[in-house]
Amino acid sequence: MRIDFAKLQYQYKLYQDEIDKAIHTVLDKSNYIMGEEVQELEENLQNFTGAKYAITCSSGTDALLLAMMALDIQPGDEIITTPFTFIATAETIAFLGAKPLFVDIDEETYNIDPNKIAEKITDKTKAIIPVSLYGQPCDMDAIQAVVNQTLKTKNQKLYTIIDGAQSFGATYKNRAEVHYADIYTTSFFPAKPLGCFGDGGAVFTNNDVFAQKMKMLRVHGQNKRYHHKYIGMGGRMDTLQCAVVNVKLKHYAKDLALRQEVAQKYSDKFREKGEGRREKDGFEIILPYIDSRCTSAFAQYSIRVKPSTFNFQPSTSFRDKVQAKLKEAGIPTAVHYPMPLHLQECFEYLGYKEGDFPVSEKISGEIMSLPMNPYLSDEEIHDIVGYL
Ligand SMILES: Cc1ncc(COP(=O)(O)O)c(C=O)c1O
Repeated sequence: MRIDFAKLQYQYKLYQDEIDKAIHTVLDKSNYIMGEEVQELEENLQNFTGAKYAITCSSGTDALLLAMMALDIQPGDEIITTPFTFIATAETIAFLGAKPLFVDIDEETYNIDPNKIAEKITDKTKAIIPVSLYGQPCDMDAIQAVVNQTLKTKNQKLYTIIDGAQSFGATYKNRAEVHYADIYTTSFFPAKPLGCFGDGGAVFTNNDVFAQKMKMLRVHGQNKRYHHKYIGMGGRMDTLQCAVVNVKLKHYAKDLALRQEVAQKYSDKFREKGEGRREKDGFEIILPYIDSRCTSAFAQYSIRVKPSTFNFQPSTSFRDKVQAKLKEAGIPTAVHYPMPLHLQECFEYLGYKEGDFPVSEKISGEIMSLPMNPYLSDEEIHDIVGYL
């Protein structure tokens, strides 16, 4: 048995005629930069999400930069986010000279814990960046309550940027996440739920001012050719990549439903083996928890594996053993993410230490992602669960 984690090649073959045609249309026109397909994709993304503006850009990382630049984040500003995320979330904050202020995660959803945000806010705090980890939106009602309370009690405006690199297509209270933040960002990295064939991303907003500014920032802060209103960046998404996403977006509602179905089948199979927790072989499995207000884009299906002892310390070496066993059986796994950001060498200067964010530290020692894609067969799911 050899299971493919993301089945990117399989997906290409599935839509090959349409994708090849779209790529060749661009080649024939040679409109590689800001061709019609770019605007077409932006309109399609607006329709999909209901956002007033969708603006494509060069990556999910650059989407975060554009969003923060639109909010005029300056050196010395502080931005609250989670330490249990991909580096780009906090790296972009630091890149702009601002300071990431980490807040620990909720033990069930693995997203930022809204109850711990208020205590971190200082006079320098400008924004909160919740991350929709593995595709699940954060508790935006609770986060908005913190924003409202801060405005009321301190007369201080906090902006929200949702890092939705993993969550395109997810919903919170039946609507796309863009409707719950000042700006929503996403990534079209190939392995993301909606991926292109290289790097790509987008920012979404309902705010006219932020939208106009991000459009300019994306092309070197230019308001007309060779006239530069802002210090910006070369942040465009290639026409070719937009053409690919235009095709994939047509099939995305179906692919997303399939991802959700795969996740449900995994969880059902695990539960058949004992309510999501299996202790007989000396280890415990904890299944993903999805808040009833949310649907997840299931960028990943991540479970926690840990020995069923009274030792609640992170057990990385134990997870290594489980991963090795699965690998031997032809089942690839991945760890998103093995080290929380406050313990990364590049953030040493922030002065955090082990023990500062105990939930993030614990989960990073236990979390493990299983193969996830819309096309995982029942047989594959059966085999994967059977090997665990
Ligand atoms: C949470 C999160 N933020 C940001 C990014 C950055 O996206 P990209 O790789 O498109 O720059 C990623 C992608 O891996 C991500 O998972």
